[in-house]
Amino acid sequence: MCGIVGYVGDKEALPILMDKLRMLTYRGYDSAGIAVSKNGHFYVRKCKGKVRDLEQIVDEDVGSGTIGIGHTRWATHGPPSTRNAHPHLDCTGHIAVVQNGIVENFWELKQELIEKGHTFQSDTDTEVIAHLVEEYYDDNLTTAVALAMQRMKGSMAVLVMHRDEEDRLVAAKMDSPPLIIGLGRGENHVASDIPALLHYTNKIYVLEDGEIATITRDSVIISNYKEPTKPDRRLYERKVIVVDWSPEVAQKGGYPHYMLKEIHEQPQTVLDTLRGRLPERPDAPIELPDLNVTPEEVAAVERLTFVACGTAYHACLVAKYAFEQALRIPVTVDIGSEYRYRQPIIGPNEWLVAVSQSGETADTIASMREGKERGARLLAITNVVGSSVARLADGVLYTRAGPEVAVASTKAFVGQLVGIFLLLLYMAQYRKVSRKTAKSLQALRAGLWKLPEQIERILNDDGHVKAIAEAIAAHPSAFFIGRNLDEPLAREGALKLKEISYIHAEGYPAGELKHGTLALLDEGVPVVALATQGAVYDKMVSNVQEVLARSAWAIGVVPEGDKRLTELLGEANVLTIPRNHDWLHTVTAAVHVQLIAYYAAAALGRDIDQPRNLAKSVTVE
Ligand code: G6P
Repeated sequence: MCGIVGYVGDKEALPILMDKLRMLTYRGYDSAGIAVSKNGHFYVRKCKGKVRDLEQIVDEDVGSGTIGIGHTRWATHGPPSTRNAHPHLDCTGHIAVVQNGIVENFWELKQELIEKGHTFQSDTDTEVIAHLVEEYYDDNLTTAVALAMQRMKGSMAVLVMHRDEEDRLVAAKMDSPPLIIGLGRGENHVASDIPALLHYTNKIYVLEDGEIATITRDSVIISNYKEPTKPDRRLYERKVIVVDWSPEVAQKGGYPHYMLKEIHEQPQTVLDTLRGRLPERPDAPIELPDLNVTPEEVAAVERLTFVACGTAYHACLVAKYAFEQALRIPVTVDIGSEYRYRQPIIGPNEWLVAVSQSGETADTIASMREGKERGARLLAITNVVGSSVARLADGVLYTRAGPEVAVASTKAFVGQLVGIFLLLLYMAQYRKVSRKTAKSLQALRAGLWKLPEQIERILNDDGHVKAIAEAIAAHPSAFFIGRNLDEPLAREGALKLKEISYIHAEGYPAGELKHGTLALLDEGVPVVALATQGAVYDKMVSNVQEVLARSAWAIGVVPEGDKRLTELLGEANVLTIPRNHDWLHTVTAAVHVQLIAYYAAAALGRDIDQPRNLAKSVTVE
């Protein structure tokens, strides 16, 4: 949801800003802009469109300034246009501002500033920041930004430059949008996300809610914007994080799209997420020290609530099936944007588990705050070390998918599923489970280690799924159906197809189809039937029969060696997954539904990594 970048050092700022913006394009891509300062002059270039459109208009004369800021936008206030693109300037043209987030009281502030004689050029909320800083400026940019922050309400990350203080950037953060400071030698960087910084440094400082940073080439001074004159050097030194992602993992590496590259990284995601946590010896204990829970606390859990958005929400739905069946703990699953507004009831021994790739999704963060206020213990399953979700939680289980760049989440989903199964196995150690369940969990444990090779097999032989996907691409809509753990996967398959191919798709519980949705089935409509769960296989076969009876085109996803559906549908209409513990079929079947979406979107020539209207990290509610 908008990406912001900044640079101050001894190199030319422009190429560095452009490079970082390219890395952040996934956060928003309807307009882009930069401002570079040199000899008391701002060079501002901005346009409607993507960063690659900005590249066309940043001419040489933007030149050799060594300090600057940039922005790539996902519109909230004001339609995408050059006028509404950031950076925004004050009346005098001395102050340049970029923002990620929303200034909720911008209208009131704007009226006040207009009365004071300020003139506005755009429809954005961000422009009020430039004028507010102008209003408070008295030869000290940090103080002026701090005073402006005190006047604003909302959720925002802000980066500001002043022509008369050409040695510094001032960054401030209110509530959730992330702002990362990258610490270099003789230079310092700012970006909304870590991958944009990896070319320059692996030492980062994650700005916290309420903080303001004055950043020069040799120093970063952090304080609270309510008390900007009291810099907290200790805080800064204590919280520097060294990131172990390499710059290469955030590159396409020869693949036509990040999405395909990330689908192919899934064997590694599984391995990395398991390594050092799930001992291969079946009787060795699983230890997850970052969860910060004692065996007694695990034994005492009475209810779990999982909360997330988008793809991560589907991973949580898988968790509900598995946790309830294995641990007999009641599980509630909520969408982030709903949880906080429904006055949730939290029991005495309840854990709230937030699942988030980015760790920055505003609705997920808001739900965690709501849960905390109501007394829940907060756990997080997230992919980004030091993210807001990780910092807010009492304990964390990191998925180790590495940076995910494509807007459509793939490897992070697989990481989340593996994380969820790890959490389940860990908790099972301290809870009473039946003998049958214990046996099943042993198989689950062994099965997790088989996944990397099984995913690899699907990826190495994807001709069949590609052909099916290309045929699906010729249809205006498609359906995904499943039961039990396949039901959330049906939803995920439909979401993937919708978001990148723009084909209308619905993910449905297979048994529910006949209660309305079946009316939409007609000659040749594609229906992907996920039939990987043994306990409900017979029922799935009946549901597929219902689909075939309406002359629709059923495509089965089944474990190898399947007979009945394969006979019914014909091999040409069947995708197989290697046999494993039933619950782990969701992981391998996920690869098929991702490939269906990818190849369908590719056949339609879609902008796969940056689908229209979306953004990867949604930092507004
Ligand atoms: C956006 C992305 C989705 C993602 C969702 C939640 O909508 O496009 O792919 O699943 O946000 O993101 P999170 O980072 O919290 O997992």
